[in-house]
Amino acid sequence: MRMNENLQFLQAFLKNPLKVGAIAPSSPELAAEMLAGIHPDDHNIVLELGVGTGAITKFLRGAIPSRDSYLGIELDGDLVKTLNKNFPDMNIIQGNAAEAYSIHQELGLGKVRYLVCCLPFVSLPKEVSESVLTEIAKFMDEGCELRIFQYAHGYFLPPAIKLREFLKNRYGTSRRSPLVLKNMPPAFTLTWSTI
Ligand SMILES: C[S@@+](CC[C@H](N)C(=O)[O-])C[C@H]1O[C@@H](n2cnc3c(N)ncnc32)[C@H](O)[C@@H]1O
Repeated sequence: MRMNENLQFLQAFLKNPLKVGAIAPSSPELAAEMLAGIHPDDHNIVLELGVGTGAITKFLRGAIPSRDSYLGIELDGDLVKTLNKNFPDMNIIQGNAAEAYSIHQELGLGKVRYLVCCLPFVSLPKEVSESVLTEIAKFMDEGCELRIFQYAHGYFLPPAIKLREFLKNRYGTSRRSPLVLKNMPPAFTLTWSTI
């Protein structure tokens, strides 16, 4: 399963390197850090943007009390097909994170309390990143906790700094996790809260 997952991730990367933005799925250690303190229910759901091969999702599976306490949105149709096979008990749909708010509204699920965002902002086209950040703002305006990860090697590069500054100006100082060394490449998680 792990090898298949790595292979499928690599295939997705080769098909669209900038949209995938990573060469391997997140490790269990990074997934644990991305999910620390997340306790969703039907009225306080978790929304995952950029599900990939489900490296984080598989740990969420045990943490959600019901199907409707989770929504995953992934752009790549091939990945979504496999995700739906591997996670038939979870709401994972093909869609664009730049339309996340209306997708969530149309499905009539509970309020998004946790936003787990795995999108590679640093490599996405500027206008896509901006649209996604506009969507994120809609959830944050309603009271939400946003969590992202950033790779250590790119942490001090201008696009990564710019993203953090943008989010800091809007949502205040973030909470940064210790460096997760057991991930390829090592990464930090960052959390902003408007609750
Ligand atoms: C860095 S990977 C993370 C995958 C997985 N969550 C993990 O941690 O291993 C980013 C994922 O975001 C997806 N993605 C990129 N742009 C997207 C968009 N606009 N809407 C939804 N998903 C997108 C890519 O297809 C890819 O699967």
